[in-house]
Amino acid sequence: MDLSALKEIFENYLHQQIDHKQPVNLYRPIQYTLENGGKRIRPILVLLAAKSFGVDLEKALPAAAAIEIFHNFTLLHDDIMDDAPLRRGKPTVHQKWDENTAILSGDTMLILAYKMLEAYEGVTYKQLNMLLNKTAVEVCEGQQMDMDFEERDFVPIDEYIEMIRLKTAVLLGAALKFGGIIAQVPPKQLSAISRFGEKLGLAFQIQDDYLDSFGDMTSFGKRIGGDILDRKKTFLYLTALSAASPDDRQKLLNLYSQKSPDNQNLIAEVMAIFKKYAIDKVAQKAIETYTGEALEALEKTGLTDGQKDFWSGFATELMNRAV
Ligand code: IPE
Ligand code: IPE
Ligand code: MG
Ligand code: MG
Ligand code: MG
Repeated sequence: MDLSALKEIFENYLHQQIDHKQPVNLYRPIQYTLENGGKRIRPILVLLAAKSFGVDLEKALPAAAAIEIFHNFTLLHDDIMDDAPLRRGKPTVHQKWDENTAILSGDTMLILAYKMLEAYEGVTYKQLNMLLNKTAVEVCEGQQMDMDFEERDFVPIDEYIEMIRLKTAVLLGAALKFGGIIAQVPPKQLSAISRFGEKLGLAFQIQDDYLDSFGDMTSFGKRIGGDILDRKKTFLYLTALSAASPDDRQKLLNLYSQKSPDNQNLIAEVMAIFKKYAIDKVAQKAIETYTGEALEALEKTGLTDGQKDFWSGFATELMNRAV
């Protein structure tokens, strides 16, 4: 089955889960968010992992919806924290409505995500629930670290990697592990598939950092340069600080410490330094390295060679995304 067919099956299922309920001011933003596309990477990971381990797609649909609804909850709150005007090419919920609406609709989606797991029973239910609990707390820890880093001049790259592991990678790992739990595969294989997802997730977030500066707004669907305006300690910024000459390093530090700058000029000057030191190439190299580590983990999943080939192709496509 090709990925677009799988995406369609998932989106039809998701659509059925979103009732047109009252009050509309709570549910309309939820529908706006969940029906507004996105790549659906995480639910696709749940469904494909379940399928790889021999389970019917139908059995994995509620877990896939749980992960996607949880992900969309994080986006509503993340867009408030990051002061982001645009998501998937449309105004963010807090822009279109207001912050209180985005907070409460987000909270509701978090709970709806957990509700989806009620479709499971016994040990499967317990394991899915425990994994979502653990992952949800980790995502919040990562989000807090991301905000704390805004206040620091420099962050060592290993701290940055731990931050993105928490805010992004663990959820991709959990999506794949969800598929494995539904199939009740042994713990060793569960660890391997989750490690595969986590490594892919690191590559995925570095690619997100890269696209935030070097991407195209129309396809990426987010404001380009938003991370620079937020003084985010992204992979690009931290690598540039390490690679730059003492003069350029100081220039970059000064640019990031300006309090009320001319936004377009700030983005242009920071980008000029990124380009001078070919930081885009360094980011692409790191993305390749983490994708390589993901493929190493894939070897221990107990999947057949054919399945591993499929997953390896999936990882390569994800690594080259522009969306
Ligand atoms: C955005 O996730 C948040 C990150 C972890 C980078 P996606 O890039 O998967 O967003 P959608 O769901 O496809 O819009
Ligand atoms: C995403 O980080 C992490 C979460 C949403 C939990 P970003 O802030 O980089 O995500 P985008 O770029 O806004 O999608
Ligand atoms: Mg953020
Ligand atoms: Mg953001
Ligand atoms: Mg981003």
